[in-house]
Parts: sequence; structure tokens; C-alpha cells
Amino acid sequence: MRSVPGAGRLLLCLLPAILGAQAGGEAKPRPPPCQQSPTKVSCRAAGLHSFPKDLPQGVKRLDLSHNLFQNLSESHLPALGQLEHLDLSSNLLEAISGPALAQLPQLHSLLLGSNRLHQNYRDNAVAFSALRGIEVLDLSANGLESHMVGGFLSGLTALRALHLPRNRLSQLPAGIFQGSPRLSELDLSNNYIMDIEEGAFEALRELAVLSLALNSLHCLSSFSLRQLQVLNLSHNALELFGWEEGRDPYLLQVLDLSHNRLLSFPQLPAAHRLVHLNLSHNAITSLDPSSHHPAQFVLHYKEMVSFSTSLGTAAGLTRLAELDLSHNCLQLLPLLFFRAMRSLFTLSVAMNCLRDITMELLTGDRDGDRNGTDVWQEDAALSIRSMDLHGNAIRALPRWFFDALPQLEAIDLGSNSLLPCGSDMGEISVGGSPGAEPCTAFHSIPHLQHLSLRRNSLTQLLPRTFSQTPLLSLDLSENQGLAVPQAALEGLEHSLQQLWLQGNHMDNSRAEIPCLDELRVLDLSGNRLSLLPMGLFCSPLQNLDVSGNELPVLPKQALMGWTRSLQALHLAGNPFHCCELGWLDALQAADVQLPDLHRAHCIHHSITNRTAPLSSRPPWPCPQPWDGSSVLVLAALLGVLLCAGCGVRRLRGHGMGMLLPQPQTERVAEGGPAHSDTKV
Ligand SMILES: *[C@@H]1O[C@H](CO)[C@@H](O)[C@H](O)[C@H]1NC(C)=O
Ligand SMILES: *[C@@H]1O[C@H](CO)[C@@H](O)[C@H](O)[C@H]1NC(C)=O
Ligand SMILES: *[C@@H]1O[C@H](CO)[C@@H](O)[C@H](O)[C@H]1NC(C)=O
Ligand SMILES: *[C@@H]1O[C@H](CO)[C@@H](O)[C@H](O)[C@H]1NC(C)=O
Ligand SMILES: *[C@@H]1O[C@H](CO)[C@@H](O)[C@H](O)[C@H]1NC(C)=O
Repeated sequence: MRSVPGAGRLLLCLLPAILGAQAGGEAKPRPPPCQQSPTKVSCRAAGLHSFPKDLPQGVKRLDLSHNLFQNLSESHLPALGQLEHLDLSSNLLEAISGPALAQLPQLHSLLLGSNRLHQNYRDNAVAFSALRGIEVLDLSANGLESHMVGGFLSGLTALRALHLPRNRLSQLPAGIFQGSPRLSELDLSNNYIMDIEEGAFEALRELAVLSLALNSLHCLSSFSLRQLQVLNLSHNALELFGWEEGRDPYLLQVLDLSHNRLLSFPQLPAAHRLVHLNLSHNAITSLDPSSHHPAQFVLHYKEMVSFSTSLGTAAGLTRLAELDLSHNCLQLLPLLFFRAMRSLFTLSVAMNCLRDITMELLTGDRDGDRNGTDVWQEDAALSIRSMDLHGNAIRALPRWFFDALPQLEAIDLGSNSLLPCGSDMGEISVGGSPGAEPCTAFHSIPHLQHLSLRRNSLTQLLPRTFSQTPLLSLDLSENQGLAVPQAALEGLEHSLQQLWLQGNHMDNSRAEIPCLDELRVLDLSGNRLSLLPMGLFCSPLQNLDVSGNELPVLPKQALMGWTRSLQALHLAGNPFHCCELGWLDALQAADVQLPDLHRAHCIHHSITNRTAPLSSRPPWPCPQPWDGSSVLVLAALLGVLLCAGCGVRRLRGHGMGMLLPQPQTERVAEGGPAHSDTKV
């Protein structure tokens, strides 16, 4: 397919030369050619200084980005009556002439990002008045300052989208956008804006999407753009975000306030349409809007509803589906705060200072949630499906927590200090004896499918810890010294599909995994296993990671089962025996991907423990099987076959591509992609 007939190749070689001559006129290194179709021409990065000649008359889209244009004047610019879209971004443009632009009557989108239009901004601005029909204008990264912008926009009455990121705007004077009243999308991100004069956006009655991200705003006290749908204020220095009072509704749906300096949950009384609110990376210490300090507020459940309406903080947020409060410093999470958010689907309070989950805002030292007498009112159920609480200091979740979240499907509790209770036998969870550390019951949570307990300093799991919870994925990684007795995962035999046990330093006795007949993904990396848990052999594994263990061989018994299902196996960092690599042949014959094979090694015990890369089979001879240790088992099974049929090098077991070990000396030349030699 790749071979090009001689004539075609010649033409391809000549094209750049032809186009190069056309473009530069001088003898220059040959730029790549323009790509042409009747209505579309791209001369991106073609080293051009001026317009290519002989452009087709009907061209509608022209890409001249990443070239060397300096000036755009009528003498250079051919009349392109049909041109609609012109991309001149990343050139060296300093000067644009009006008559030149007037030759493009159909132009509606002009991309001029990364040029130097600030150089002659007065003349350039005058030239822009020729762009009467323009709808999309990109002026990003042109060194423009606040006083230059108004001029550029003065007559662009059709403009809908304006991109001004990466300029040098430091303030937005009143009336700056007066010239383009139909703007609906405005990107002012990545400037130095500290100050927005009253009336700056007044003319923009149709503005729907506004980005002021990556500026230097400290305070927005009376946000009044009621028609706005998307507002991005991330990466500023906002300490205050307030709304203008009034009766007209706000249409805002997306509000990004991440990476600011807010000290409390912003008051959003009229944000009835808000769907997405991002408050991550702020300095919020309390969900109480009237206070910057936690634990100043005592409210009880029955007063909570009136609290919400009177303070108006969360009450209006009935459509909010996604709330990100991660990377703040909340110490209390009063669940009733979220009650009015009837559509809340995803809540993140990751990376905060949470110690307690409480029902309501209350003083810090009340401990009622711990003693099991508090009961969540059924009618107050929250709609949250996915909750991220990782990176806090939570020690226990009260039983009513899961009652309050009857639809919960996924929860990340990584990097906390939780202690799971065991067993769902009877009413009482074992493990939480009086006086002992309070434990959290993870059994009988009706819809929970995804649970992470990574990095919780777990050491011992009790029997039936997760029973009657329909878990599909369970992350128990990075709990150094964890022991998973067989009974711990009881109840998950027919549901669990993904299990992570990475970095637990578990030895063989601590990883007793039962037969999980739905398990597809298993991460056992970073442990001390020299044997794979027997229970695994009945799982239809697709992805298995055993890297960084102490495995000398992979067991044939498991491979027999897995070669049908297994797609990828990570195996580097094990002390495999160079003379017992039959399993590797089997894997390769079954087309299992071995992504880290290039990093894997084996050890030659007969040659003073010399290591060799697994990918290129070690050339040294192997001792007779009876010198080995665990190979004896395999040899005993297969010895008859091997010895009797010296000529038989490979046997294919039951059509599964299983290979039998063979004398090492005969395999020296292998090592390339192994499937090449599977069919004998
Ligand atoms: C571009 O235009 C500017 C201002 O009109 C002029 O000073 C400069 O010489 C021109 N440069 C080229 C390469 O034509
Ligand atoms: C807000 O702007 C930042 C910076 O440009 C960007 O990373 C982020 O995705 C934007 N937020 C939304 C909600 O689009
Ligand atoms: C909120 O913003 C942060 C930082 O900009 C970002 O990483 C995160 O993904 C955003 N959250 C959501 C839910 O989009
Ligand atoms: C449990 O709650 C009850 C009723 O609120 C209270 O009287 C009792 O002191 C609490 N016990 C503990 C150990 O906090
Ligand atoms: C080779 O490694 C084994 C196991 O680690 C060890 O017992 C033995 O002493 C080593 N032999 C040499 C020659 O280093």
C-alpha cells in the first residue's frame, strides 16, 4: 500500500518547489505545499511572506497560519469574493489595511491570534471597520492593552464571538464593548484585569458565555449579568462574589470560581438555573454563609429548612447537578446543607479538613452522630450519586450517612482514616465494640458500586465487610500491611469486576482472595507475593498487574484459564527464573499484551544469579530440570512427553496455544514478537 508509483513520486517532489517559488519568489528552503480543494486551501506553516497566487476564486476557507506575513495590504491581497474564513494566526502581522479587508465582503470569521497588532493599533483599528460582516474574531496574544481594544470593535456590529486571551488588558473601561452589541461569547482570560468599571458589559444584552479566568480580580460585589449562561472566574484572587438584588431571574448555568480566595460559600440567591458550580481551590472553611469560622452556628434538623430559605445560600440551587468543593478547608460537612439541591448528582469535598460528617451545622464538639441514636429522616434523602471525600481526616461515617444517600453509587474515601466494620449478621456490626475506634459499615448499601478505601492505613479486613453491597469496583490499594482474609470479600463473588490491591506489601498469607467469578481487572502490583492467590484461577481476568512482586514463575494452572480472557499483563519487577519460562511462551502464544515486558528480567540461578532481560531470551544453558526447585512439579507433569518426543518441540493444548517448556538452547533466537512462532 505504501509504495508510490515512480511518476507520482516525482510529482510529489516537485510540488513544494513549484509552490515555494510561487510563494516566496526567492531561493529559500522549500516550504511544504498548500493543500487545496475547490473551496478550502491550507498553506499552514508554508514559510509564506505573502498570499499565494492563483488561489481558486471560489475559496471559502483559507488557512495561512504559522507563516511570515507582516503586512496585509490591498496590493498583496487578492480579491476573494467568496472567502468566509481566514486564519492568519501565528504570523508577524503588524499592519492591516482597510481596503485590503474590504476585498473580503463575505468574511465572517477572522483569526489573528499571536500577531503584533498592537504595533499600529490606531491604523489597524480603523482598518477593522471594514469588517462589517464579521461574526468571529480572534485577537488573542496580540499585545493589546485596555485602551486599544475599544477601537478595534467600534464598528463590528455583527460580531458574536470575540477572543482576547493572552493580551495585556488591565481594566475594562465602561463602554469598551459598545461597538459590538451582539457579542454572545467573550473570552478575556489570561490578562491582567483588576478592575471592571460599571457598565463595561452593559451594551452586551446577548452575552451568554464570558471567561474572565486567569486575571487579577479581587472582588465582584454585584454581579448583574442576568442573561449570562456560562461565567468563568477561575484563577483570580476573588475574596467576594456577590449578586445584585432584584427580581429578574439569572440564567447562569455554569459558574467556575475555582482557584480564588473565597472564605465562605458564595451567596447565590437567584441562581435557579445553575447546574455546575466549581468552588475548588479556595479557602472556604465553613458552609455557613454568615460566618468565616466553623462551629459558630447551632442549628437543629427541624430548623434547617427555614435556615436554608432564610439565608438563601443553597435554597435556590435546585438544579445544581455538579458541585466541586475540593481543595478547601471545610472541617464539617453538614449533609442537610445539600438538601435543597434536589438535582445534585456529583459532590466533591475532596482534599479538605473534614473530620466529621454531621447532619446539620453545629458546634464542633457535639458527638451525636457517633453514638448511633441519630436517625436520618427518610423524606430528607439526598439525590447524590457520586461523592468524592478523598484526602480528608474522616475516621468514621455514621450509619445514617448511607441512609441519607440512598442513591449513592460511587464514593471515594481514599486518604482518610476509616476502619471498616465486618459482617452484616444481625443488626450489630462487629468490630465496633464499645470504647474501640468507631468503625464504618460498608455492607448493605443498596446501590453502591464503586468504593475506594485506598490509603486508609487499613490492616485487617473482617469477614463479609462488603456483603450485600453490589460493588463492581473496590480499591484497597496503598494500605501497607493489609491482610485480606478469604472471608473479607465474601458476598462479592458474583459482582466484583475490578479490584485494586496495589502497594500493600502483602505476602502470600495476607492475600486470600476467594473465587470472584466476575473479576476482570486485578492490580496486585507492589506486594510480596511469591504465589498467586488460588482463588483467582476461576476469575475471567482481562487485565492483571503482578509487577513488583516476588514471583518466580506464573502458575500454569492460572494461565490455562486466563489465556482465553486475558488481554494485558504487567509483570516487570519479579525474580522470574530464566529456566522456567514456559508460561511466557503460553502468554505470547495467546496474544496477551505485555506492556512492561521490556522492563522485566529473569534470574539465572545456575550462573551466579545473573539477571537477563526477559524480552530477549537469555542465551545461557539451563540445568537439567531436577536441579531446579519448583520446576520439578511441572517437569513431573510433562516429563514423559518431553523425554519421549525429543522431536516434538511444541504441543498445542486443546487449541489454546499452550506451549510446553523446551530445552533452553533451542530458544535462543526467539525474543521478537512471539506470536510469529506460534503456529508450527
Ligand atoms: C508594513 O507596514 C508598516 C506600516 O504601514 C510599514 O512601516 C512597514 O514598512 C511595512 N512592512 C512591510 C514588510 O511591508
Ligand atoms: C475556566 O477557565 C479555565 C482556564 O482557561 C479552564 O481550565 C476551565 O476549564 C474553565 N472552566 C470551565 C467550566 O469551562
Ligand atoms: C473544578 O476546577 C478544578 C480546577 O480548575 C478542576 O480541576 C476540576 O476538574 C473542576 N471540577 C469539575 C467538577 O469540573
Ligand atoms: C448519644 O445520644 C444521646 C441522645 O442524644 C445522648 O444522651 C448520649 O449522651 C449520647 N451518647 C454519647 C456517647 O455521645
Ligand atoms: C542467588 O540467589 C539466591 C536467592 O536469592 C540465594 O540464596 C543465593 O545465595 C544466590 N547465589 C549467589 C551465587 O549469589
